Amino acid sequence: ALVSMRELLDHAALNGYGIPAFNVNNLEQVQAVMEAAKETGAPVILQASAGARKYAGEPFIKHLIQAAIEMYPNIPLVMHQDHGQNPDVCQGAINLGFSSVMMDGSLEADGKTIASYEYNVDVTKKVAQLAHKVGVTVEGELGCLGSLETMKGDKEDGHGTDATMTREQLLTDPEQAADFVKQTQIDALAIAIGTSHGAYKFTRKPTGDILAIDRIKEIHKRIPSTHLVMHGSSSVPQELLAIIRQYGGNMKETYGVPVEEIQEAIKHGVRKINIDTDIRLAMTAAVRKFLAENPEKFDAREWLKPAREAAKAICKQRYIEFGCEGQG
Ligand code: G3H
Ligand code: 13P
Ligand code: NA
Ligand code: ZN
Repeated sequence: ALVSMRELLDHAALNGYGIPAFNVNNLEQVQAVMEAAKETGAPVILQASAGARKYAGEPFIKHLIQAAIEMYPNIPLVMHQDHGQNPDVCQGAINLGFSSVMMDGSLEADGKTIASYEYNVDVTKKVAQLAHKVGVTVEGELGCLGSLETMKGDKEDGHGTDATMTREQLLTDPEQAADFVKQTQIDALAIAIGTSHGAYKFTRKPTGDILAIDRIKEIHKRIPSTHLVMHGSSSVPQELLAIIRQYGGNMKETYGVPVEEIQEAIKHGVRKINIDTDIRLAMTAAVRKFLAENPEKFDAREWLKPAREAAKAICKQRYIEFGCEGQG
């Protein structure tokens, strides 16, 4: 059944676990997440980016998720809009039936310019007011995602900035976070701690200087009742990179966010963990391997099946690692 994100995150906080929020764009990804949730007894957050709505078309995204609700009526499910660029996008998602929206005011509506604090407060507050009226949950973002190795921002949703930033801009300030939540009345806060979107997050296994889990602890201490959200939280498994390379893919050396760091973050207020890239890697590895080993096959279902299985496996793993088993 469709539930509000607030309800799921409150339950997660009360019971000390975190919920992976998986990005979906097509049928097989939705099926993979739902089967993983069914097998582990986990609650579900399906999130669609602007890119996903453009790829599938809004009616398809809407009805794919509604089909999931119809087929799995006993699984609590949140339909979340990822990275809304402005209040109109969020209103559009609400009209479409989303039960949760993210207003990402860390960048201006052009999706490139780093926004002023005042701008971020203004647009996020606007969305919280219109969303809360209809029972929709709101996630805001404070601080800019980007690398503490290169000091550059990341291009999320195909937009975003790769501008050079200061450490200050790349790490959410706990005092400002408290003011932001108070002024905007958001339900969940996405924080910047050195993660970025995509496969290329770190040039080495991250340590505290480039992945600031300690900053999460400081923010949580200051605003203990605000649910924290980690973006750019794929772990980029080396085994998947190896399969992709083995079957002709070109992936450079790279490292993601280690699962044990996310588990530590869950102990300090992180309730929603955004994952897209790991599903992409899992599906790509499976398809490359299958087609290389079965060059005579051409029925799309035959190669989509192992892709869907691989996506399901990574989703199940994250549900278990983040403590979701039996919580759905
Ligand atoms: O925000 C980033 C997510 O990974 C979505 O990516 O915009 O390519 O769908 P996308
Ligand atoms: P990854 O690219 O690390 O999977 O992050 C996804 C994300 O944050 C979507 O909002
Ligand atoms: Na952002
Ligand atoms: Zn994100």
